[in-house]
Amino acid sequence: MITTDYLVIGSGIAGLTFAVKMAEQFPEKKVLIVTKSNEEESNTKYAQGGIAIVLNEKEDSFEQHIQDTLIAGDGLCDQDVVTMVVKEGPKRFNELVTWGTHFDTNTNGHFNLGKEGGHSQYRVAHHKDCTGYEIETALLNRIHQLSNITTLSQHFALDLITTANICHGAYIINQNNHTVITVQASATLLCTGGIGTIYGHTTNPSIATGDGIAMAIRAQATIADMEFIQFHPTVLHEKSEGASFLISEAVRGFGAYLRNQNGDRFMLGYDARAELASRDIVSRCIDNELKKEGHTHVFLDCTHLDLFAFKKHFPTIYEKCLAIGIDITTDWIPVVPAAHYICGGINVDQNGQTSIKNLFACGECTRTGLHGANRLASNSLLEALVYAHNTFTYLSTILDTSTVTITLRSSDISLRQEQVSSTLITTYRQQLQELMHRTVGIIRTTAELVHTKTQIEQWIMLIDHMYSQTQFNLDLAELRNMLYVSLAIVKQSLARKHNKGGFFNTDNESLTSFSKAI
Ligand code: FAD
Ligand code: SIN
Repeated sequence: MITTDYLVIGSGIAGLTFAVKMAEQFPEKKVLIVTKSNEEESNTKYAQGGIAIVLNEKEDSFEQHIQDTLIAGDGLCDQDVVTMVVKEGPKRFNELVTWGTHFDTNTNGHFNLGKEGGHSQYRVAHHKDCTGYEIETALLNRIHQLSNITTLSQHFALDLITTANICHGAYIINQNNHTVITVQASATLLCTGGIGTIYGHTTNPSIATGDGIAMAIRAQATIADMEFIQFHPTVLHEKSEGASFLISEAVRGFGAYLRNQNGDRFMLGYDARAELASRDIVSRCIDNELKKEGHTHVFLDCTHLDLFAFKKHFPTIYEKCLAIGIDITTDWIPVVPAAHYICGGINVDQNGQTSIKNLFACGECTRTGLHGANRLASNSLLEALVYAHNTFTYLSTILDTSTVTITLRSSDISLRQEQVSSTLITTYRQQLQELMHRTVGIIRTTAELVHTKTQIEQWIMLIDHMYSQTQFNLDLAELRNMLYVSLAIVKQSLARKHNKGGFFNTDNESLTSFSKAI
């Protein structure tokens, strides 16, 4: 058993930012970070476009960023939250700079700001096309300097420890020797990120299995807006399976065109903002183009762009394309939408407090009300920074961090002998991914959702039983979590009777109504 003041589960931007702030402010308090892979592995590490932030108040304004966020969210954002996040943004961004994150600047020394879908202004601060890597590296460097932070990598959080709607910590398994550590904490912060892996075809790395949301579901925390899955419109179309390489929306902000197989700039026929309409709309239009002709992908045309400037802003994308034989000066890039982000998750208030006492959550695993039915591009890193600060402030000023002595049941998982077949787990995982991709994607129907719900419920019974009888197996634990999260997405999809943002059920509204041009 370990006792700590703050248990942080996850080492992306949300968890690391909270840990740095807490540890800097309270050198006498202990912060424990547990993370299931290497400490840098996270969705954060792969973020490309940047952070949406109002830095140039001459040309931009808080009001415009607020309006763009509300429009993208299709009427379901919480306006107070949007206002708070947008206005807090610049302060939090400056802290990130203080901790050593470098953002691109112009020759005049001002930040070079990019543009992405749904933004009416240039406001996305970035580090080339690898902003997330730069942030993750800077935050980890700062973490390593703070002696009151302990980081345990290759440690998987199994479940929260709760009694009477109070969280006391979590069961953590050391993946190297399979011993279970009971961590008792005054406050536990879930920062476990996204869920993309449940779709198979995703921009997310394989760690994105929705573990924190699944743990919260099992602990009976409130979760909301799970039906709003964001599909990124421009993911490199490659034959190989698994995590897919993103072609940042900032490339369209830089002037790239979307073309169908006939070479037409089809977005002009759907939305006045063309390629820079919000992500939900662009993905749905691409999906429609593909279904019309039965094609597998459309194209991103960069051939008219300034190559020198392109290489400077997007070196990773340029090199990746070149490595697979695509010369962006002459070739169009084949792209297709893929699962990218979950707008919903664990319900939190503006302090990051969940519906369970002493359990907080931050980052992509949460539902704050910022994104509504569709997240505005580059608002996710911003949200994580602002909420990590809010939770830090709240816990610093309000919570009594003395630990209550409770009797904790120890987990028997490390005592079990029986092993589970890895082929079996892989088979179920692939079947789940195929089912979610086919029936809970950009366009859904009630009949398919009902069938999918029944199927997932059956799998949960089976996998829960297997999980309770066998030795710890990371893939099995993740599969179990993926199933809980998938079921929540399906149930909340069935409950939604009006299409909004990234959610479209053809039984609510015919497909022809989503755009003037179809
Ligand atoms: P993550 O960064 O995903 O971190 C989650 C952490 O939790 C990881 O360390 C993981 O290992 C750990 N974890 C998970 N489960 C467990 C468990 N059971 N036990 C222990 N540890 C666990 N957003 C933007 O705003 N701008 C962008 O430009 C942008 N580009 C993106 C590009 C790509 C390719 C992707 C995938 C996402 C992008 N996003 C972008 C979204 C953004 O990166 C994420 O939403 C954000 O980084 C999430 O941060 P987080 O800290 O909540 O989670
Ligand atoms: C991108 O660079 O296109 C991703 C931005 C985001 O997800 O906010």
